[in-house]
Amino acid sequence: MNCRIVTIPGDGIGPEIVREACKVLDRVSQIYGHSFHYKEVLMGGCSIDACGVPLTDEALETARQSDAVLLGAVGGAVGNSRWYDVAPNLRPEAGLLAIRKGLNLFANIRPAYLYKELSEACPLKKEIIGDGFDMVIMRELTGGLYFGERHTREIDGVLQATDTLTYNENEIRRIAIKAFNIAMKRRKHVISVDKANVLDSSRLWRKVVDEVAKDYPEIKLEHMLVDNCAMQLVMNPGQFDVILTENMFGDILSDEASMITGSIGMLSSASLNESKFGMYEPSHGSAPDIAGKDLANPIATILSAAMMLRYSFDLDKEADAIERAVGQVLTEGYRTVDIMSEGCIQAGTSRMGDLIAERIV
Ligand code: IPM
Ligand code: MG
Repeated sequence: MNCRIVTIPGDGIGPEIVREACKVLDRVSQIYGHSFHYKEVLMGGCSIDACGVPLTDEALETARQSDAVLLGAVGGAVGNSRWYDVAPNLRPEAGLLAIRKGLNLFANIRPAYLYKELSEACPLKKEIIGDGFDMVIMRELTGGLYFGERHTREIDGVLQATDTLTYNENEIRRIAIKAFNIAMKRRKHVISVDKANVLDSSRLWRKVVDEVAKDYPEIKLEHMLVDNCAMQLVMNPGQFDVILTENMFGDILSDEASMITGSIGMLSSASLNESKFGMYEPSHGSAPDIAGKDLANPIATILSAAMMLRYSFDLDKEADAIERAVGQVLTEGYRTVDIMSEGCIQAGTSRMGDLIAERIV
């Protein structure tokens, strides 16, 4: 298979983790006889430095013309960088939001799975972990607070900031359908998370999700308030199969879910549009404090590359091979520093990439 992949290394640890993911993809292409053609584009702080904006029209267009996008991370330390002394729409993260919106990537899939080998790194007590957990967070990615109208004004000498949370029923329906379809291939259980005891947008969310559920009689649907969900994730994570939620709640809950897998360095993600096109990125940020030190965990990015093979290219066998190789390296005891525990062997970013690539068969 011939695939055109746009890579966006971005800022901070982005370049090193994308490099490792490409190493693993190259190994896959060798063994399984595919051709992956890469084209690199700038986004985030590096694009601000080179072009004055976090995402150029050309970069967006190049991404649009590709079969899939592999992204590292964007952004620097807030308050500690020239990238943040400008208007919000010119900061690194604005590039990320613009590419999500520009490519209509409304469905963000974030799987959170506890590898048995990492139960030592999981901050929860053994009796809470039980048999582990395996959930998928379906986060709406192009609506809600992230894209509503916002402004800061001075009214009678007092500064006032406004952000608006808007969803229409079509935006809710399309992400709900994606979530139910994914649940059909899993344990057929959807928990839709909202704040329907307060927010109108959540009440509409609930109504539309209930309507969609009628087309999926085999699926068990529950509604859960977001504050309760935050608590349930650390009290009984095993109860979750598919969590369906809006943009902001999904941002927060996916960080929480990633932490209980042992490290945010383990959580992959896929952002999809209506077709097979997608952007694949780790759920974590650019970690500027450890950038360039060979300390970053490349596993979330490598697992994101596996999702790319699965969702955009229908290469399930190859995706399985990557996931198996990650499992094997962990079973053999190799750990990056974020998931290190006693008796294990510490590996840097590049060595971890080598180890995983070597185990692809
Ligand atoms: C994420 C990140 C982004 C988000 C930031 C960098 C804008 O936290 O992908 O979860 O909030 O969506
Ligand atoms: Mg986030």
